[in-house]
Amino acid sequence: MDSTTKQKVAVVTGSSKGIGRAIVLRLERDDFFVYVTYFTDKAGGQSTADEIKKAGGKCSLQKLDVSDEKSVTQLMSLIDNEFGHLDVLVNNACRDVSKSIEDSTYAEWKLAFDTKVHGAWLCTKYAIPLLAKSKNANVIVISSSADERPGPEILSYAVATGATNSFVKAIAPYLPKYGIRVNAVMPGEVRTANWGELEKDDKLWKEFAENNPMKRVTTPEEVADAVMILINDPHKFLNGNFLFVNGGGHLK
Ligand SMILES: NC(=O)c1ccc[n+]([C@@H]2O[C@H](COP(=O)([O-])OP(=O)(O)OC[C@H]3O[C@@H](n4cnc5c(N)ncnc54)[C@H](OP(=O)(O)O)[C@@H]3O)[C@@H](O)[C@H]2O)c1
Repeated sequence: MDSTTKQKVAVVTGSSKGIGRAIVLRLERDDFFVYVTYFTDKAGGQSTADEIKKAGGKCSLQKLDVSDEKSVTQLMSLIDNEFGHLDVLVNNACRDVSKSIEDSTYAEWKLAFDTKVHGAWLCTKYAIPLLAKSKNANVIVISSSADERPGPEILSYAVATGATNSFVKAIAPYLPKYGIRVNAVMPGEVRTANWGELEKDDKLWKEFAENNPMKRVTTPEEVADAVMILINDPHKFLNGNFLFVNGGGHLK
C-alpha cells in the first residue's frame, strides 16, 4: 500500500465527552480510524466509540492519562504496532478547578497544567516519530482565549492556557522539519461538563449568548469543523494559526 492510500489515523485526547467527542465523530466522517480516549469516564468513551461504529466507522477505545508519561508512551506504541504512523493528534484533554488563589490547593492549581500543558507536551513529543511518517501530519491544540482576560476566578485555567498558546507559538515554526503542521483552535464558551455545576445554569448561558456578537455560544460540532478546516487545508500551508470559533467574541 503506498502512502496515498494509507488508512488515515487520528488520536483525540479526552474524547469521552464534550468537544473531544464531537471531534472524533467528525473525523470518522472523513474516514479516519480514530483512537477514542477516556481518562475516568469509561462509559462516556464507550458510548462515543459505539456511536462511531454505528455510523460505520472504525475506532479503538483506550484509557489515557495525558499527564502520565507511561500512559502516553503506551498509547503511541500501540499505534505504532497497529498502523506504524499517525496523521492527526488533537490535544484536547483538560481538567481544571476554577477557584480563587486563596481557596485553591496546590493540587488543584496544578490540574490545568498537568492536562493542558504537560499533556500537550507529552503527547506531541511521543507522537512526533509517528506523525513524521504521514504525508499530512497535524497537531491541533484545543486552546482558549482565557489568557487574554485572565480573571482571578479562573486563574489556573487562564495561566495554563497562556502556556499552551506559547507552546503552539514555539513549536509551530519548529515541527515542519518533520512535515508536521501545528495549529490551535480557540472556541468560545461551549456548554460542556467542563463547566461543572455551571453547565446547568440556563441564565449564565443566556448571558454568554447575549454578550456574543452573533448572539449565541459555540457548539462542539463547530469546533470539530474548525479542526477539519485546518487538517484539510488543500495547500498544507496553514501553520501556527489560532483559529477562533466564537462569532468574533474575542474582539469585543
Ligand atoms: N467548554 C468550553 O467552554 C471551552 C472553551 C474553550 C476551550 N475549551 C477547551 O476545549 C477542550 C475540551 O473541553 P470540554 O469542554 O470538552 O471538556 P469536558 O467536557 O470536561 O471534557 C474533558 C475531557 O478531558 C478528559 N481528561 C481530563 N483529564 C484527563 C487526563 N489527565 N488525561 C486524559 N484525558 C483527560 C476527560 O476524560 P474523562 O471524562 O474520561 O476523565 C474528558 O474526555 C479543553 O482543552 C478546554 O480547555 C473548552
